[in-house]
Amino acid sequence: MNTIDINEQNIDERSPALLKLLLKDKTTELNIRWATDNYKQYGCDYAAECQIKPELIIGSHMKVIQPRVSKDLVEQSKRTRDKAEVFTPSWICNEQNNLVDEAWFGRKDVFNYITDNGWITNEEIIVFPEGKTWKLYVDARRLEVSCGEAPYLVSRYDTVSGKFISVKERIGLLDRKLRVVNENTDNKDDWYKWTIRAYQSTYGYEFQGDNILLARENLLYTFIDNMLYKFGHEPTLEQIKNIAIIVSWNIWQMDGLTLSAPYSEEKPAFIQISLFDIEEEKGSPIPCKIFNWRANYSLEFRSMVNGG
Ligand SMILES: C[S@@+](CC[C@H](N)C(=O)[O-])C[C@H]1O[C@@H](n2cnc3c(N)ncnc32)[C@H](O)[C@@H]1O
Repeated sequence: MNTIDINEQNIDERSPALLKLLLKDKTTELNIRWATDNYKQYGCDYAAECQIKPELIIGSHMKVIQPRVSKDLVEQSKRTRDKAEVFTPSWICNEQNNLVDEAWFGRKDVFNYITDNGWITNEEIIVFPEGKTWKLYVDARRLEVSCGEAPYLVSRYDTVSGKFISVKERIGLLDRKLRVVNENTDNKDDWYKWTIRAYQSTYGYEFQGDNILLARENLLYTFIDNMLYKFGHEPTLEQIKNIAIIVSWNIWQMDGLTLSAPYSEEKPAFIQISLFDIEEEKGSPIPCKIFNWRANYSLEFRSMVNGG
């Protein structure tokens, strides 16, 4: 499945419930919102505050959402101006992720070593330092702030050049966890159990709704790629949906400045028709919720930032 644009039509054909899961916002229990005015030319349902509904991105609209590298240059520069959207090439993500691992392992060049604007993957099985196990590595929590299409977490393609990257050469934080699971499990049950844990410990947030969907799709298709790589066949639909549930919690839409769901202060249109108090009808933005999978409860993200 070495294509960089994951078509929402294909996801819907696999299962409409799967596409709905990928569009869910766990904080508001609505769908994620566009949160960008880049799509308003398609009609009023594409305004920034509107939810992304399946019917807006499939059928005759199936090409509406494209990764940044496939967007036209005018649109790319507008997004850079509006939301500082500039994506990081894979070789830089790799160098920074190597530093994260250097701190965790206490040694350099664990997964690969760097070359001029690139890297060479180490072929040998990863060895863990005394007192640390592969399971601890899989469970170690990682977060990409303002994740865009999540190139620090998964690297199916270079978000700048658009080049597809094979499973063995990937450098994202989740890619690394999955490599460790692939190397340390020898049956499907263990592999699936620890793959789920790798996803549960990998988080990212982002403002713009199209990026959230693209990031979620990238994480989901990374799961399919890895099952194909390890076992030579695709996961079942039930397994794919289980991963999609985790991804729809862990890759969430948030304004990093307010720690709230973008446009969640907007009241539904039928309340706003009051003539005199439209201003006062705005509610408060809803603080974003995330999920602690090891303790099995949801909590407000801001409680963690404030040391709670
Ligand atoms: C410089 S890009 C980086 C994306 C990705 N992490 C990468 O390195 O390729 C910055 C991202 O921040 C997002 N962003 C801008 N303002 C934001 C905010 N207030 N809260 C959360 N994300 C925001 C943009 O939509 C954009 O995707």
